Amino acid sequence: MASIQIESVVKTYNDTPVLHGLDLEIGDGEFVSFLGPSGCGKSTLLYCIAGLEAISGGRICFDRQDFSARAPRDRNVALVFQDYALYPHMSVRDNIAFPLRQQGVDEATIAAQVKWAGDMLGVTALLDRAPADLSGGQRQRVAVGRAVVRNPAALLMDEPLSNLDASLRVHMRTEIRRLQRELGVTVIFVTHDQEEAMVMSDRIAVMDGGRLQQFADPMTVYRAPANRFVAGFIGSPRMNFLPGDGLGGSAAVTVGVRPHDLGPGDTADDGRFRLDGRLVLIEPAGPVHFLDVEVGGQIVKATVAEPDGLALGETLTLRAPAQRVYRFDAASGAALPNL
Ligand SMILES: Nc1ncnc2c1ncn2[C@@H]1O[C@H](COP(=O)(O)OP(=O)(O)O)[C@@H](O)[C@H]1O
Ligand SMILES: [Mg+2]
Repeated sequence: MASIQIESVVKTYNDTPVLHGLDLEIGDGEFVSFLGPSGCGKSTLLYCIAGLEAISGGRICFDRQDFSARAPRDRNVALVFQDYALYPHMSVRDNIAFPLRQQGVDEATIAAQVKWAGDMLGVTALLDRAPADLSGGQRQRVAVGRAVVRNPAALLMDEPLSNLDASLRVHMRTEIRRLQRELGVTVIFVTHDQEEAMVMSDRIAVMDGGRLQQFADPMTVYRAPANRFVAGFIGSPRMNFLPGDGLGGSAAVTVGVRPHDLGPGDTADDGRFRLDGRLVLIEPAGPVHFLDVEVGGQIVKATVAEPDGLALGETLTLRAPAQRVYRFDAASGAALPNL
């Protein structure tokens, strides 16, 4: 297990900067997600940490020791990819044993370690099968087993659940999180799925355009986004953004309010945030219904538990608690203090 320090890391490909001086400190045993849209540099940063890509500037340290120039095999990190490349001609047992054999570990220790990993991941009954005879979820579990069997200092996972179907993906989130707690291993988990990052992580590093936007625990990122990008990327359906001048304020301010914080309310002037608009759509979504409301030529999303008594086309007053209304600098996107 190790802590990881990423200090002013720059990565350029053929003079094109992809990472613009990132700083991050990941604690020993922490579960950190790199979250951001496709192309923002998540995989590049992960491969720089693994040593598969050389950095163009800055330092990468393990336990505060500069590892920037060390070869991948000297960093003692394990990687799990989306397409869990297992060796097709080897049994599950030999796949899991492979990293230990490469290190020259004795066969008795290998057998014990494979049993430990198999039991922990629930694949003991599958040890003599070939990868082709496993389901996607089982293969992903074997790939994780192969990664953790040699007790790596850190487990680096690049969108490991993206190829699984939806229900299995949700199940594997819990399994990976449980495994990480049991092992106490430092995990960096790359994903573009904000919900995945929210439910799994101790802290989330939100990235955009090769820059770190915010690094904080999930509820801080959700409730106190550092800027408009983070506010819009985290949460589903996404936050509504309205021009401040349309709300009787300044055009230099963008106002944000999440659909889950906004719903039909009374018209009394009680200091709560208020929007008036026309109800154009009601979408049942299980525990709540989503409402599309046209406000000043823009569609605003709100929620309501029960839509009884609401009629399409009617004028609706939406309310939100004042502390759930966000303000951003319209030019820079930086979060402004709440009113
Ligand atoms: N080997 C490479 N050569 C040139 N550009 C690359 C290379 N690998 C990645 N990039 C570019 O770096 C940026 C970040 O890519 P990547 O780290 O894969 O993003 P993410 O994993 O967040 O989707 C993208 O613009 C991508 O095109
Ligand atoms: Mg990627």
